[in-house]
Amino acid sequence: MNRREILTWVCCATVAAALVLASPAAALGVNWGTIMSHPLLPTTVVQMIKANGITKVKLFDADSWTVSAFAGTGIELMLAIPNDMLKHISSDYSHAQDWVKENVTKHDYDGGVNIKYVAVGNEPFLSSYNGSFMKTTFPALKNIQKALDEAGVGNRIKATVPLNADVYNSPESNPLPSAGDFRGDIHSLMVDMVRFMHSNGAPFVVNIYPFLSLYQNPDFPIDFAFFDGGGRTLNDRGHQYTNVFDANYDTLVWSLKKAGVSDMKIIVGEVGWPTDGDKHANTENAKRFYDGFLKKMAQNDGTPMRSGHMDVYLFGLIDEDMKSVLPGNFERHWGIFTYDCRPKFPMDLSGKGNDKYLKRATGVQYLPEQWCVLNPDVKQLSALGPNLDYACSLSDCTALGYGSSCNDLDRGGNASYAFNMYFQMQDQDVRACNFEGLAIITTKNASRNGCLFPVQIVSAAGPSAVASARALLVAGIAAILLL
Ligand SMILES: *[C@@H]1O[C@H](CO)[C@@H](O)[C@H](O)[C@H]1NC(C)=O
Ligand SMILES: *[C@@H]1O[C@H](CO)[C@@H](O)[C@H](O)[C@H]1NC(C)=O
Ligand SMILES: *[C@@H]1O[C@H](CO)[C@@H](O)[C@H](O)[C@H]1NC(C)=O
Ligand SMILES: *[C@@H]1O[C@H](CO)[C@@H](O)[C@H](O)[C@H]1NC(C)=O
Repeated sequence: MNRREILTWVCCATVAAALVLASPAAALGVNWGTIMSHPLLPTTVVQMIKANGITKVKLFDADSWTVSAFAGTGIELMLAIPNDMLKHISSDYSHAQDWVKENVTKHDYDGGVNIKYVAVGNEPFLSSYNGSFMKTTFPALKNIQKALDEAGVGNRIKATVPLNADVYNSPESNPLPSAGDFRGDIHSLMVDMVRFMHSNGAPFVVNIYPFLSLYQNPDFPIDFAFFDGGGRTLNDRGHQYTNVFDANYDTLVWSLKKAGVSDMKIIVGEVGWPTDGDKHANTENAKRFYDGFLKKMAQNDGTPMRSGHMDVYLFGLIDEDMKSVLPGNFERHWGIFTYDCRPKFPMDLSGKGNDKYLKRATGVQYLPEQWCVLNPDVKQLSALGPNLDYACSLSDCTALGYGSSCNDLDRGGNASYAFNMYFQMQDQDVRACNFEGLAIITTKNASRNGCLFPVQIVSAAGPSAVASARALLVAGIAAILLL
């Protein structure tokens, strides 16, 4: 492909869907999302975060149980207001005051929680939201910042809006970072908003996903998604770009410059690589991405337009088995840790390339070592399809899809996988392993050929969480049958 095509992907088709202490690891943050059926105790997870030297955490809400677990740890927190609350917060200043009182100042005492940012919404201007949060985001941001100021914490705690990299781009006719600017439909809104945040000393938080550049464009030059070169470089006014991440970041730098806030602080709110659910999503690629990225972070080189230290939050901490798979099956596999908080592959957060596994969570309790599989004595398999669909619609079968870790199972293997996922989701309730007599419980490990048949953990949220998880899945995900 020619250079112009590459540039187009770099700048325009990138996404559609994300202090410096002694050691570089200390500068890294992680995103901790909790859209999962079997969460661990917040204190267990926080302990694991601490044990691995991670000093910054970004949350997607302000759940009091979770936030409290950070008390006394010194870990820096970014709390969040979900998009579905923006209307409420924007509609009345007192709602913002209440939010700040209940979710910030309550935790903000000596020896309490080290809250640094409040994220107002999450990627609210995503193109695929069709402008749903266009009217409420900026007013909500202003209300929250004012409430923080009036509570006397505004000098330490800043309100910001994490945005997807699709809020800026370069024209197709000139697809270079230097041609970057905010998206046409939100241009004046973005300019007003970044100026407001800049005047408050708040950062611009942007989510950048090289994986999605690759996923969304079959012709994307694969090496350009990683940091180990591969020969391709992109020249923009004498600046050489060797990876899509830098080019994307600098497209933002140029956009901010044009908005009159060229010195605005930038935080990468989400960056990472999924390990399953797509042909490019595997531990090998994830390791390659993180190795390059962490080394880059350790070198503190920054990008051609912004040299120096970069503030980043990896996405994400733990796999989330109940995330919507509308963007793709990989959505449930972004964790650097598995559902039970084991590290997936060796990584060195200090960027020195020492291949070691991160420390796993301690005290994780598992359900008994048993699996639900297709009964080998069953010969009449006509009822398999509907039962398999049912099991998958109420659990997570994203590992079965094309290019995924369990894609080479035969029909019976698919059924066993689906039955087991459902059985585990239901906390191994014996009634959840029937499927019209097709299934049996076995104590023989059913995993095969790199395809893990998991045994669930004891959920800290208790059985009621599984029930509500089930209701959610029925409501939201049943439509997306895999099989
Ligand atoms: C505080 O945050 C929680 C969790 O995000 C939310 O459910 C609650 O409504 C918030 N409190 C107020 C007063 O808005
Ligand atoms: C946005 O519009 C598209 C096309 O009209 C539609 O399919 C989609 O459901 C809409 N999304 C939202 C969040 O409204
Ligand atoms: C197993 O399920 C996957 C995912 O739907 C599908 O691609 C594959 O063809 C199935 N295998 C068989 C043998 O039915
Ligand atoms: C089952 O086998 C797989 C693959 O060998 C392994 O990773 C997993 O830990 C085993 N599960 C249990 C509960 O022993």
